[in-house]
Amino acid sequence: MTSQSEIRVSRFRSDEAGRVTADALQTWDRDGLLVIEDFAFSDQCRQLISAADALVEDFDEEEVAAIFSATSQQHAASQYFETSGDKIRCFFEEGAFDDKGKLAVPKSRSINKIGHALHDLNPVFERFSYQPRLANLVAQLGISEPQWLQSMLIFKQPAIGGEVTWHQDGSFLYTVPQTVIGFWFALEDATLENGCLWVLPGQHKNGLRSRFRRINGRLQTETLPEAPSFDENDGTPLEVSAGTLVVLNGALPHYSEANRSSKSRYAYTLHAISGAADYPEDNWLQRGRDLPLRRLS
Ligand code: FE2
Repeated sequence: MTSQSEIRVSRFRSDEAGRVTADALQTWDRDGLLVIEDFAFSDQCRQLISAADALVEDFDEEEVAAIFSATSQQHAASQYFETSGDKIRCFFEEGAFDDKGKLAVPKSRSINKIGHALHDLNPVFERFSYQPRLANLVAQLGISEPQWLQSMLIFKQPAIGGEVTWHQDGSFLYTVPQTVIGFWFALEDATLENGCLWVLPGQHKNGLRSRFRRINGRLQTETLPEAPSFDENDGTPLEVSAGTLVVLNGALPHYSEANRSSKSRYAYTLHAISGAADYPEDNWLQRGRDLPLRRLS
């Protein structure tokens, strides 16, 4: 991958109430990207890290390992993912198992992410996700009746943390019209070594390339008719310090490399959609009646 200078990506700060300047909002509109340094306080980052580690500690890896290691149980593995929209579930890294189906690394290093309703089911993540400063910021970004659709804790553990290939979040969290916005919080410093984000600023304006949806009962990626092409070689790395919030338009292509370093790269992500938009029934993420989506404020 060609490394380019980062000068195109401006960095901002919010005020005490979480609000950003008109200049920042202009950048958000132009780039489909907004970098806000020091948005999350260091004690908030620490609390989220500890809460995530506690969830992994409590996780029964034997039970779920059985689902993921048996190829005959493909259906069960896919169900584990497809029904996680209103639960807290741990997902393993690809390299977590040896060829006998046993964990090849300690459990604490084996998890790729936790998803997808941390913000509604875990008190630490709930407090952070529904804090007024964040609601104030979201209200500035031009999304009506915002609701948190999903949350994830992404670990990128040392040596094993996997690559996330180029994608647009709107392909997975599709609404009509397209309204999804991603909020990516660095809980630890994210660098070129431990797998920071890469972005294509401004390329959100070309629309979505694909859609991941249920077709004949099976999740598949469908290329959209007007699919834009984006040149991944133009990617800009986004090295950020712990506490930085990166806001991503749902059509903004982004990527992160595998972590081959000795440092983890914890990040917490939230995705908002507009309650006024249509949310199709063939999207992968569906919530049961017991846990309806909530407004941010
Ligand atoms: Fe993403």
